Amino acid sequence: MFETAFLDVPALRAVQGVVRLPGSKSISNRVLLLAALCQGRTVVHDLLDSDDTLVMLQALRQLGCDVTIEGTRAVVDGIGGRASRPRQAELFLGNAGTAMRPLAAALAVLGGDYTLCGVPRMHERPIGDLVDALHSLGCDVRYAGNPGYPPLRIGEPQFRLERPIAVRGDVSSQFLTALLMALPLAAGGQDVVIDVTGELISKPYIDITLQLMARFDVRVRRDGWRRFTIARGSTYRSPSEIHVEADASSASYFIAAAALSADAEGSNGLKIEGVGADSIQGDVRFIEAARLMGAHIDSGPNWLHARRGAWPLKAIDLDCNHIPDAAMTLAVMALYADGPSTLRNIASWRVKETDRITALATELRKLGAQVDEGADFLRVTPPANAAAWRAASIRTYDDHRMAMCGALAAFNPAKLPVRIQEPRCVGKTFPDYFETLFATAMPAAVVPVICIDGPTASGKGTLAAAVARRLGYHYLDSGALYRLTGLAARARKLEPDAAHEEALAELARRLPARFGEQGKVWLDGHDVTTAIRTEAAGNDASRLSALPAVRQALLDLQHHAARLPGLVADGRDMGTVIFPAAPLKIYLTADAAERAQRRYSQLVSKGISATISSLRADLEKRDARDRNRAVAPLEAAPDALLLDNSARSIDDTVEQVLTWWQARQPF
Ligand code: DC
Repeated sequence: MFETAFLDVPALRAVQGVVRLPGSKSISNRVLLLAALCQGRTVVHDLLDSDDTLVMLQALRQLGCDVTIEGTRAVVDGIGGRASRPRQAELFLGNAGTAMRPLAAALAVLGGDYTLCGVPRMHERPIGDLVDALHSLGCDVRYAGNPGYPPLRIGEPQFRLERPIAVRGDVSSQFLTALLMALPLAAGGQDVVIDVTGELISKPYIDITLQLMARFDVRVRRDGWRRFTIARGSTYRSPSEIHVEADASSASYFIAAAALSADAEGSNGLKIEGVGADSIQGDVRFIEAARLMGAHIDSGPNWLHARRGAWPLKAIDLDCNHIPDAAMTLAVMALYADGPSTLRNIASWRVKETDRITALATELRKLGAQVDEGADFLRVTPPANAAAWRAASIRTYDDHRMAMCGALAAFNPAKLPVRIQEPRCVGKTFPDYFETLFATAMPAAVVPVICIDGPTASGKGTLAAAVARRLGYHYLDSGALYRLTGLAARARKLEPDAAHEEALAELARRLPARFGEQGKVWLDGHDVTTAIRTEAAGNDASRLSALPAVRQALLDLQHHAARLPGLVADGRDMGTVIFPAAPLKIYLTADAAERAQRRYSQLVSKGISATISSLRADLEKRDARDRNRAVAPLEAAPDALLLDNSARSIDDTVEQVLTWWQARQPF
């Protein structure tokens, strides 16, 4: 997941290959609650691992439910049959509506002394209609903050179930879902009837609720979308095993990306695994809407396949009530349409993670679109031509869908990058969204690279790694490749000199190395993370790096490191030879005394002994060799910016490089 303050998505040309999507948030949280409320053990497969499922899991654990997680599999022991459950708890539910509403209803029916709260935005999301319904059936639910909104205090119920319970259906279908899931807990001696007032929105989500309840052995009688009856004696029973479908709304971004992809003939399009057109999720009907706009989509059991069809896309005028979440993706696809598109009947967008109508209108305008918004509609007129597109910094309002849709602007014909602010908000439903996108996407232009070259112990590595972290870019420590080659040579009793040039080059070409998390490196299956950092390894690297065949052999490996969304590379010839077209090149120096001191501290901290004077002599000798060799000598590229960090802190140098980088961005 990208934890950076922003993520710059370079212009994209196409997506292709295969993506496997994470489990649906709506299904995951419903299944977890049902598994917790039932008797017996349930094994849940393909569970989503995200912010919203995490808060649900934490809450269920606090309520005495045993849950063990292994990867995407959860084993839940329900509290249904158990008399003893903690009667008191304070539950923090983040910004997860799919946890707040159903838990509020379930706990109000079970009774106890509970407080339910969330992030500030959660305390702005209405819950009054659900609380009214809970009051009417005799539950004790009080507002601990503003009337009509969480946080809530829950006490013991005094049931009045003789008359139908009325609940509004026109603000959020989650209120009805919450009641439906909770009421079997109260339907001991009599039928319980729920009447929906107002036009029920997001009916497909109610369908998911009913289907999942049926899997747990409670069948609700439905009369149209107005009346729901839970038969007396209904009890949740575990289905033993249950699979969570991939999230159909998450699929929408990849369907859209495929529909926006150039090279339709040359590419095989994108296969999306985990969800098919026969999904129980209403948002899968996004497929129909995307087809209306021109996307080409095939489907089979648990898979979809998408590619570009009509181009430009066709403008639409559509009632989107049945696909509230996925329709946001249509709003971004509308940027690529042949005229203005109107999305109607979307008033519920205003009470989601953010006011999504205003948020999208504001952000799409930044991209060059003309956008009109009304109480319950959005009209998007695309930029008139490629020149009318703007490079925008998209605000995401702590709304995962704003971030995921926003990235689709990267397919713009002007080949402009798009900045996504606070990209970690995708953690709500799809923590690896950007990684998944980058793994299937092809850039529209060369991937941005920042080169940081300089002599030994100038602090390049620390600086480059820090800059990479701040931008969410990959990091290439090119010196490590030479060091690894040297180490591999020593292991094979090869002297790193010109007499063995061909053998050394062959070794470099097939470097038996593996790179892991946090800079870990293995060579021939051994952990050499520390071994490559010794002075001896550095000297061997310096010697063999003077051999042209060795340098040539390491070219591909280095070029391949330039992957989406970008790269920070450090070494001696990053700016001069490996990435000569890089948009930012830094030549980092520090005086020799300072560098010797730094190298000394570095080695000592790793428990390697050394003396400052011999280190200084060594590094001066190494610099001389690196500078004077015939191929790719250490020197600043003509267009490099010089940065002497002898008297500057690391933070200071990092800020300097980021400032230079920002000055080159169009945002
Ligand atoms: O950056 P470093 O100290 O890990 O590099 C070790 C040696 O590898 C260095 O003395 C010269 C060589 N090298 C190179 O020639 N070109 C690079 N891009 C990186 C390192």
